[in-house]
Amino acid sequence: MFKYFLDCLPIVTIDLYFLNMSTLATYLSDPFLANLYTQVRKAGAVKSISVDLTHKCNLRCNGCYYFEEEMDKMVDAKADLDNAFDIFLASEKKRGTNFITIVGGEPSLRLDRLKTIYDNFKMNVATNGLIRIPYKGFEQMPIGVAVWGSNQTDAELRNKGKRDLFSIALENYKNDNRAFFYYTVSPDKSDEIELVVEKCVNNGNKVLFNYFSDTHTKKNITEYRASFSKVRSQIEKAIEKYPAKILTTSYFNKVITSGKLYNQVWGYNVCTNISTNYAPNQARLQNGNPFNPHFRSYNADFTTTRRCCTGINRSCDSCCDAWEHFSWIMINLKKHLGSKDEFTNWLTSMYMFYYINRLIELPQNDTTLIQIHARLGKASSYV
Ligand SMILES: C[S@@+](CC[C@H](N)C(=O)[O-])C[C@H]1O[C@@H](n2cnc3c(N)ncnc32)[C@H](O)[C@@H]1O
Ligand code: SF4
Ligand code: SF4
Repeated sequence: MFKYFLDCLPIVTIDLYFLNMSTLATYLSDPFLANLYTQVRKAGAVKSISVDLTHKCNLRCNGCYYFEEEMDKMVDAKADLDNAFDIFLASEKKRGTNFITIVGGEPSLRLDRLKTIYDNFKMNVATNGLIRIPYKGFEQMPIGVAVWGSNQTDAELRNKGKRDLFSIALENYKNDNRAFFYYTVSPDKSDEIELVVEKCVNNGNKVLFNYFSDTHTKKNITEYRASFSKVRSQIEKAIEKYPAKILTTSYFNKVITSGKLYNQVWGYNVCTNISTNYAPNQARLQNGNPFNPHFRSYNADFTTTRRCCTGINRSCDSCCDAWEHFSWIMINLKKHLGSKDEFTNWLTSMYMFYYINRLIELPQNDTTLIQIHARLGKASSYV
């Protein structure tokens, strides 16, 4: 049973002492939970990295963390010319990496590199949706398509109002079961959530929420997270209305909009996805809080790494990145063992991560998502 846990975790060191196996067995006597658990376990451990596939982008969205800190400058011109990419992938394969989150820059500008990763690793990709990633050759790829608000808001924030980017993305990924909309919401745009979600769902796509990280905010973490209270309640309404289509759970929504996980408050000292080979991170790695020991965030030179996927020196107070918060919950299993509801919060977060990233066999219909949301109505009261 111990091995059960070790297998299913995103490669985290677990202090076995803390695992109360008879308690766990009681939780897993629930057939629904046992089913989720078995699937996650079957998929195995995730050894993940993130990589910027290219430093180039065909947009300049307002406040994009990538360009805010000039991560596009962290490339070597030779990366485009020589075989740095192939050498990098071979070395990561050897290191044991089995999952790559592809960001950037705009990955659809380098379909050749995207295809190589797809053919060799489990992966997911974030794209702005302007260039359709072809179906042929990319059939099972999990694709997170960015949207930042209503057609007008999205165009204004990401394109100075010039083109209706949301409509282009909807058209490119209509009824495409590889694609979900990765909807980045800002605190002042909560009233657009209902309409945007409706459009995505009517287009045949699911929705995962992301929460805008305002790198210029003067607010501290508590104030910044508090500004998402309306966003949080609108997301709850979306879950209620479309339980088969929303990939964000109530628990996740609560953790990210509060910035709290039990006795921890979100920030650099508890962040679990920081490059473990990056010298300035060494003190954090020794502070006793759990982290993902395999993780590295590679720049588009395919050689150097930076602090984390979404930052170099910026304040962590406004960091609301959904993937980093997934990791925070997933690695902190121990904290969630106090009751069956808390364990449900943890296990459903794990399952959602594996589901979104197609690490498990997808169910024939979406009743699993409906059941997860139904159960979490109660369970998410624990944080
Ligand atoms: C940096 S982009 C790279 C991939 C691709 N160009 C895209 O836009 O999807 C990765 C994701 O980060 C999101 N993003 C960019 N800046 C952000 C910010 N300040 N806060 C939250 N999400 C942000 C984008 O919307 C996108 O979903
Ligand atoms: S499309 Fe992506 S990488 Fe390009 S500016 Fe927008 S968020 Fe940043
Ligand atoms: S900005 Fe980076 S280091 Fe800071 S909390 Fe976010 S992911 Fe972690």
